[in-house]
Amino acid sequence: MGFEEMDVDTIWMDGEFVPWEEAQTHVLTHSLHYGTAVFEGVRCYDTEQGPAIFRWEEHLDRLYQSAAPLGHDISHDREELTEATLELIRRQDLESCYIRPLVYYGYNSLGVSPRDCPTETTIACWPWGTYLGEDALEQGVDVMVSSWRKHHSSQIPTNIKATGPYINSMLAGEEARSNGYVEAIVLNKEGDVAEGPGENIFMVNDGEIFTPGLSESILDGITRQTVIELAEELGYTVHDEASISRGQLYTADELFFTGTAAEVTPIKTVDDTVIGDGSRGPVTEELQSRFFEVIERRTDDHDEWFTYV
Ligand SMILES: Cc1ncc(COP(=O)(O)O)c(C=O)c1O
Repeated sequence: MGFEEMDVDTIWMDGEFVPWEEAQTHVLTHSLHYGTAVFEGVRCYDTEQGPAIFRWEEHLDRLYQSAAPLGHDISHDREELTEATLELIRRQDLESCYIRPLVYYGYNSLGVSPRDCPTETTIACWPWGTYLGEDALEQGVDVMVSSWRKHHSSQIPTNIKATGPYINSMLAGEEARSNGYVEAIVLNKEGDVAEGPGENIFMVNDGEIFTPGLSESILDGITRQTVIELAEELGYTVHDEASISRGQLYTADELFFTGTAAEVTPIKTVDDTVIGDGSRGPVTEELQSRFFEVIERRTDDHDEWFTYV
């Protein structure tokens, strides 16, 4: 669904609530040319206790961490960004939505060096349902291993969310979709499993859970951290520093993606090889239902993960 069909009308831009159609920037904006922006993707859920942003503080941490190596000096503190976001949700009467803070180098000069360009910050929110298709959460998705490798963390930091590197995600995802798959898995430079274009990946074998470690050139996903914590609370052994070979994907008992957009999505097939019995596996199902119980606030625990609107 395009923005035009959505009932949203306001974007926050450096302290101002601006009408949606007026939230514009110059074509000579530095970040438009060199991919030097950083951003976050956050979800606000319509919970049993009212609208609440999931793990806002951790997303804010990552936004500031992403900004630092690119030299962005965000001139708004946490309180201001939090208030702006809450107000944006309230003003537009959104109950559940996706939140997109963006920090970019604006207009002044177009050398590769951004030193003379201002750092600008915007926040937008809009309604967003399931990311990988209507049935994905229950039925699982068909994925392919991309021919595109994930860039190594020594080439471009992979633990920050900068816009330019998403070319890698775009290429891998589009390759998969052009070949009839829903999503891709990208291998790292060493040829081991890294992640999805917008998701982390988990493998289940003999009742134990494995996910690539942070040194495998992955994003330190907040849903990944959440699922690791919930799985450990449920008594699972989680190997969160795993190195997973491509071959292990095909023989896994279960595979699933995690991400703010994808939430917890089972993987049904990889390169047409059926994973497990081709349906959502029992460990994935247990973790998924625990995840949704928490984010829908049908339980009292982990209230510290929520910022209520
Ligand atoms: C490349 C990549 N990996 C993993 C993730 C999952 O991260 P999170 O759970 O913080 O959304 C994302 C989404 O932000 C992503 O873009």
